Amino acid sequence: MDSSPVCLDDFEEHAVRVLAQGPLGYFQTGADDEITLRENRRAFTRWKILPRVLRDVSSCDLSTTILGHRISFPVCVAPTGYQGDAHPDGEIATAQAAFEMNTCYTMSTMSSKSIEDVSSAAPAGLRFFQLYIFKQRDITKQLIRRAEKAGFNALVVTVDVPFLAKRRKDIRSKYTPSPQARTANFTHGLHDGPDGLHSHVAELIDPSLTWDDLTFFKSFTKMPVILKGILTAEDAKLAVQAGVAGIMVSNHGGRQLDTVPATIDVLAEVVAAVESKCEVYMDGGVRLGTDVFKALALGAKAVFIGRPVVYGLVYNGREGVKKVLQILRDELESSMALSGCANIAEIKSNLVRHLFMGK
Ligand code: FNR
Repeated sequence: MDSSPVCLDDFEEHAVRVLAQGPLGYFQTGADDEITLRENRRAFTRWKILPRVLRDVSSCDLSTTILGHRISFPVCVAPTGYQGDAHPDGEIATAQAAFEMNTCYTMSTMSSKSIEDVSSAAPAGLRFFQLYIFKQRDITKQLIRRAEKAGFNALVVTVDVPFLAKRRKDIRSKYTPSPQARTANFTHGLHDGPDGLHSHVAELIDPSLTWDDLTFFKSFTKMPVILKGILTAEDAKLAVQAGVAGIMVSNHGGRQLDTVPATIDVLAEVVAAVESKCEVYMDGGVRLGTDVFKALALGAKAVFIGRPVVYGLVYNGREGVKKVLQILRDELESSMALSGCANIAEIKSNLVRHLFMGK
């Protein structure tokens, strides 16, 4: 790009210029008409910030904790697959960037690098492992054991993909990850050829999964379990009953069921339903410091970002991801100072108002 990026959208613009159609489409795509994809961004603009003045904001403390681990600011990395199609260093660069920025990295089951390689590249970093539960339970169990052995701190079980939704850009480009991007985590007989791994793996995910299976997987691991893909108060309550440590309010970045609400619009309902019995995080459309501020005000303990990290990788590998995280950190700091918040605990719900709900 001609000049250095100054906001997260600049990284996407750069990716649009340099990436081939297949990978670009895979990173950008939403499901069907992409209504939820767009809504994730639009919904943030309908939430307004009500700033307080004359409070000492000469220094702002952005640090917080997730599951008891201290991070230097509440923006973490969401799991995204096939990062080798964004940069040859893929997940290794991403994990190192998150570690250097002192925040949490989530590794996808569908990573281009193996659990063990990512772990040894950032051994001291806070790392979550995202799990798809496959019909072949032995493979699933082995992934959990490998993540435990490699020192991952939590298991993020994704529950919004019983089937892969229709993503038109992938269908049109016939996207399949390039050899450098194919998943490195399967050594147990999963087909890993060039002819449609993406859809093949989707077929492997178990659509019969229920809350009972979750209870089994929870008891199978010592890692705390986070459920990713919760959008309703009802499911949030069931998740609490199942004893999860955290809930990720997520619509998979608009890539699964289209026309579900933006995550920022259902966050407060989920937070109210869990009654502080577990932590609540959110992802989907977070691109600005003010977005992070609004999510925290509505009760998220932290936010996670997906596509911006991938576009940071495209821009400049590890340094690009660090730059993405640094920009969002700086924008959050500025939002806090300008709204009278000197630390994360001061970001409360009275500081945001929904334009239409009038709350
Ligand atoms: C994803 N997401 C995802 N989620 C998951 O649980 N496992 C995965 O392997 C992937 N892979 C993936 C690939 C790509 C290219 C994207 C864009 C997303 C969803 C991801 O974790 C997260 O929920 C969204 O990306 C958040 O939305 P934003 O930040 O991309 O708007």
